[in-house]
Amino acid sequence: MASKKNYKAKKRLEYKAPDFTATNIELEFNLSDEYTQVKSVTRYQRLTSDRKAALRLDGQDLELVEVLLNGHPCDSMVEGDCLVIENVPDDFELTVETVIAPASNTSLMGLYKTDGVFCTQCEPEGFRRITYFLDRPDVLAKYKVTIVGPEYGCGVLLSNGNLVASGTKNGRNFCTWEDPFPKPSYLFALVAGSFDIIKDTYKTKSGRNVSLELYVDRGAYERGLWAMESIKQSMKWDESRFNLEYDLDNFKVVAVDFFNQGAMENKGLNIFNSIYVLVDPHTATDTNYFNVQSVIGHEYFHNYTGDRVTLRDWFQLSLKESLTVFRDQEFSSDVASRALTRLQSIDVIRGTQFAEDAGPMAHPVRPEKVMEMNNFYTVTIYDKGAEVIRMIHTILGEEAFIKAVNDYLTRYDGQAATIEDFIVSMEVSSKKDLAQFRLWYTQAGTPHVRASWEFDEQSSLFTLNLSQTLECGVPLKNASAMYIPIRMCFIDGKGNIQNSPELDESGILIFNQDEQSYTFTNLSADTLPVLFMDFSAPVKCFAPYTDDDYSLMLKNVADPFIKKDSATSLINNYVHGHIDKIASGGTLPDPVAIIDAIGFLLTDKSVDPLLVCELIKIPSVNELIETFKVVDLDSLIAIRDFIEKQVALSLADTFKTVYENNRLRGSYKYNIKDASKRALRNSALYMLALARKESEKVAEADALVLSHYEKANNFTDKLAAMTCAVHLELPCKGLILENFESEWQHDALVFDNFFRVQGSAPSEETVYTVRKLMRHKRFDKINPNRVRALIGSLAFNNPKALHKIDGTGYLLLSDVVQELDGINQHIAARLITPLLSFKRFDAKRQEMMREVLHKLISKDNISSSLYEKISAAIGS
Ligand code: TRP
Ligand code: ZN
Repeated sequence: MASKKNYKAKKRLEYKAPDFTATNIELEFNLSDEYTQVKSVTRYQRLTSDRKAALRLDGQDLELVEVLLNGHPCDSMVEGDCLVIENVPDDFELTVETVIAPASNTSLMGLYKTDGVFCTQCEPEGFRRITYFLDRPDVLAKYKVTIVGPEYGCGVLLSNGNLVASGTKNGRNFCTWEDPFPKPSYLFALVAGSFDIIKDTYKTKSGRNVSLELYVDRGAYERGLWAMESIKQSMKWDESRFNLEYDLDNFKVVAVDFFNQGAMENKGLNIFNSIYVLVDPHTATDTNYFNVQSVIGHEYFHNYTGDRVTLRDWFQLSLKESLTVFRDQEFSSDVASRALTRLQSIDVIRGTQFAEDAGPMAHPVRPEKVMEMNNFYTVTIYDKGAEVIRMIHTILGEEAFIKAVNDYLTRYDGQAATIEDFIVSMEVSSKKDLAQFRLWYTQAGTPHVRASWEFDEQSSLFTLNLSQTLECGVPLKNASAMYIPIRMCFIDGKGNIQNSPELDESGILIFNQDEQSYTFTNLSADTLPVLFMDFSAPVKCFAPYTDDDYSLMLKNVADPFIKKDSATSLINNYVHGHIDKIASGGTLPDPVAIIDAIGFLLTDKSVDPLLVCELIKIPSVNELIETFKVVDLDSLIAIRDFIEKQVALSLADTFKTVYENNRLRGSYKYNIKDASKRALRNSALYMLALARKESEKVAEADALVLSHYEKANNFTDKLAAMTCAVHLELPCKGLILENFESEWQHDALVFDNFFRVQGSAPSEETVYTVRKLMRHKRFDKINPNRVRALIGSLAFNNPKALHKIDGTGYLLLSDVVQELDGINQHIAARLITPLLSFKRFDAKRQEMMREVLHKLISKDNISSSLYEKISAAIGS
């Protein structure tokens, strides 16, 4: 076990090509809970001209049994985590036998066994927990894998590629799989267990039949059908939009209950957290359905962007993730709703990624140094990266972009590439210069764009002045101006579009200096520039708009992002303008502009009904915190509560109408139109119940919510009612929780909602509730889904409880993190995230947060994952 004194970050620039590569590997697993034997026979070839270079293989927590070189015993030594073999020939076969204990592996990396299922997770560095190997993404080998089942038998034995043999061996079942595509070790997968299997076929556009198999928990057949549908949609979409056809004869997806993240793109054998596979009307929400489709798409799209073309090293992670997120977002846009998908993606950037940029773990899309790679599966790498790809798409245009991606995939097929390779491909293919654009990959932080404008009556010239700075939670060395595409238009004082010859048809303005002024003709004194339509760059824009300007844009500009941003800005303005009044005990004026805006969005026929549910959302406390450098949290919560209450009371009749008019008849089906009706109706339910409660009509609120719960013919509505009852502390809360508990306690995935709803209840009492629920018989600290549902809700979705002024929220979180660190360091390191941003809070809270962080980092056995994050926050 390494000690924290030895933890050291690796640097991107220290990359060295491997001295050896592996061309073929044959693996044989003899599965057993605590004593799984792994025999690997690998062909290695020397790449370096240094004949003295030793073969150094990565390993972790392995029991080494035997090493043979070309079939003969040889000298080898274990140095730390490495197996070192000196004096090896240029081309040889190495046999390594190790023993591992999957049933005691709680890290869920490498091979682990939970609930009767053996399963692997090798990205990023889990393969070294299986056998000694060159566990790095630039070593690509062909795999042949034999799995011998455990003594008690096993339903299926799966690995990547094609089944080439099966039968019994010493009384046990075995299967042998061969994957024709060379791949890095992180894409290796093995699954063994007993499942229900959904089978289907897909005919590719060139006419090949691909057999599709989806493996789900026994008894969950029906709950896998939507995922199977989504696989076929993904295959079809990739053919039509990117001209990419599936390349193997079979495609397998397995859903497992214990998984550190969402899902994994292992070649031909994707493994999923069952939360992203299992849905049906009675157990899953519309959001679950949407996510299943999107994550199935994401992993499938990795088959090209990630698997066929992989990564040279882990600093290039965003190369595969950003492009694949962009592709899954476009998939959701095309098959579900472009506007809704876009608004959701933008929320991730503004709600979470900007916060990451402002915190101590801020890093560029292509990081420079990494201690624990698992800490870099971040919203910066994934979602900001996807925004960067989206800007390339904006700059190149659809046709040139698709061609450039195809050229890139052709050029690097079967290879391990870098981000630089990708950008060069984009440049060569499109003949565009992306030199300055590269800064999006290398500079951390969020660009802040300041805009101002004036109209000169004399010359009739309209001038737009822009300036930019880069803001970041870690010090930046000589930051330079970014290349920022601004999609924009002009409107006049009545909200009508104005055209100016200086803004071409694309509507894109390129802003790429520290300061720049642009002049436009054909405009007027009342012209308003509308900036960053469709959120054309991941920046914060500050512009001297008045509330009237926001109202004008909200009512007249069709762009969904501008509508949403205008509504949000009205709320932000109110919060920032009045928060001091709370602290000084003053009274708040009615938020009339906000009420008017939401009233308009709810009733005006010009607003796309699909979008209303998104547009009327009042930003969460966390989103509002993000707009402050240092926040007075208590006042912020009070002012947000006030806004919500006033909106509910003033628009109660409107919400009632919306509630009644959006009732859906007939049985539940998932589609984006119905889903958004339900979402709208359920927010109306919440606001209506809040209004009744606030006007001393608790009984009415209670009856409304209880009847919504009882009449619901689908899980989305049930959960919405339960959330209202719990979050508004209505009398029916106990009844509904009891009902839910007895109905769903035998289905862990569904039951997580019981934890989620209570863990996110915006009350200080929640700290006790969560402590109590941690002793619930359905809670299991080994299972990441349980931990995320209960503890994650408190940590990420409940600032009121987490930041309770007596410090008990912090203590709870740090107790859990400390215990989990010894069980699953990756989950522990995720959970600590909200405490890293202590600088945003008042002195008392800062002090308490620092104290728990210091206590955690003082432990000798702290993991590298946790150590990296805490030391970044407090310095070490
Ligand atoms: N590559 C996976 C994806 O984007 C991410 C992933 C799944 C992962 N499981 C993991 C990353 C475990 C680290 C550890 O879909
Ligand atoms: Zn991915």
